[in-house]
Amino acid sequence: MSKAIIISNRLPIKIVTKKNKNTLHHSEGGLATGLESVFKKSNDNIWVGWPGMVVKDTDAQLDIENQLAEMHLKPIFLSKKQVDGFYLGFSNATLWPIFHYATNYARYNDADWKIYQEVNEKFAEVIIPLVEDGDTIWIHDYHLLLLPRLIKEKCKNVSIGFFQHIPFPSFEIFRLIPWRKQLLDGMLGADLLGFHTIDDVNHFIDSASRLLDTTINSNVIFYKGEISSVDAFPMGIDFEKFNSKLPKLQATQKDVANLKRQFGDTKIVLSIDRLDYSKGILPRIHAFEQFLQKHSEYKGKVTLFMIVVPSRDSIYRYKELKDEIDKVVGDINARFRTLDWRPIEYFYQSFPVEYLSALYQMSDICLVTPMRDGMNLVCKEYVASRNEEDGVLILSEMAGSSRELGDALIVNPNDIGQIEEAIVAAIKMSPKEQQIRMVKMRQIIEKFNIVHWVKIFMEKLREVKKLQTSFKTK
Ligand code: G6P
Repeated sequence: MSKAIIISNRLPIKIVTKKNKNTLHHSEGGLATGLESVFKKSNDNIWVGWPGMVVKDTDAQLDIENQLAEMHLKPIFLSKKQVDGFYLGFSNATLWPIFHYATNYARYNDADWKIYQEVNEKFAEVIIPLVEDGDTIWIHDYHLLLLPRLIKEKCKNVSIGFFQHIPFPSFEIFRLIPWRKQLLDGMLGADLLGFHTIDDVNHFIDSASRLLDTTINSNVIFYKGEISSVDAFPMGIDFEKFNSKLPKLQATQKDVANLKRQFGDTKIVLSIDRLDYSKGILPRIHAFEQFLQKHSEYKGKVTLFMIVVPSRDSIYRYKELKDEIDKVVGDINARFRTLDWRPIEYFYQSFPVEYLSALYQMSDICLVTPMRDGMNLVCKEYVASRNEEDGVLILSEMAGSSRELGDALIVNPNDIGQIEEAIVAAIKMSPKEQQIRMVKMRQIIEKFNIVHWVKIFMEKLREVKKLQTSFKTK
């Protein structure tokens, strides 16, 4: 029986350290939840990826490998040099800034590129022996752009899907990368390429048509005698988890009660992101500062609850951003605080999902203003958590999710005045209008959930295989 092989840079695990011993647990992240529907169909299914740490000792590697095997996960161990060149270097200091239009932040380093190739090849070497005829291979994200081609060269009778979770930039930006042709060639080893939005799809097709010797018919690309299809699959979330499962848990209810006690009638404006310059954290803080300056009537009545989850903090640009956030938040709190109110409750840490659920339920406004975001799932989690059909979402037009969530207050993340006005509009919005907007958004998030996302991707992949066969038999 054929199986599915899922491949992503990070394995869906969390590491729990107790008494100096690491134990590995399945993480309940969005992708892992969605893929369960594919994954649980067969015991042979496997997920391949990096366990997220450098493990030098071979006995420790074996121990991790055994623990993961029970969860159908296969680790790829990377050396410190590979983590530096592949993960921190080419993936996150070249591709990430370019794909998020932060061109000034990109570095083009030939040594990083070589290691990126080496690690993609390493993934291929581990995966190829696992592949059998008829298997479905689904590769995720920008860390592994060369992998579809590497697998296709060696494995003929398989279906290869690729999904990119971050934006694909316009040709004028993508062309800046010295290795742009090799990257496209690698991606086009996939039978089906998926992106979050139609814009990403169009940008990819534009680059492929200008840079490679391709023939294009709508969403189908003919290249090197092969056929690939490209389409938009906006990723969803596990709606029921945020709508009903988490709110019913005792831990969540305890957190809700604590937040109620802590904040009373104070309105909470929620902001949750990984530390990243693409998330627009600083302009968002400045918009809140402008709100405080212009609306002294809300002094003591509104709090920005801001969670920044540590991420990639050994990359200079991330460290620099962290320092700047610390400084600006400190300055605002010092200037505007009263004896019993701090305008910004700022946390540089991650929180358990139960606490996030409590926050989503308790926040009157959710402020999501990325400069660029492939999709953004925080805003979807907020909407799914609002089972009383109230609350206001303020959402950047640069997030992929803004295509689906037109009933949010849509803002340009560079327009600080517009964000400030949106905060005021959200505070003043009538319960009726909140409900009308929230109900429409909730319907979309419920219908186009994570299981639906996996299902339509897999259906499309089967369709592409049929299309390829029909061309071969002609
Ligand atoms: C983005 C990427 C993911 C990545 C995540 C966290 O959402 O699309 O592939 O896993 O960021 O980043 P990290 O560098 O910690 O894996």
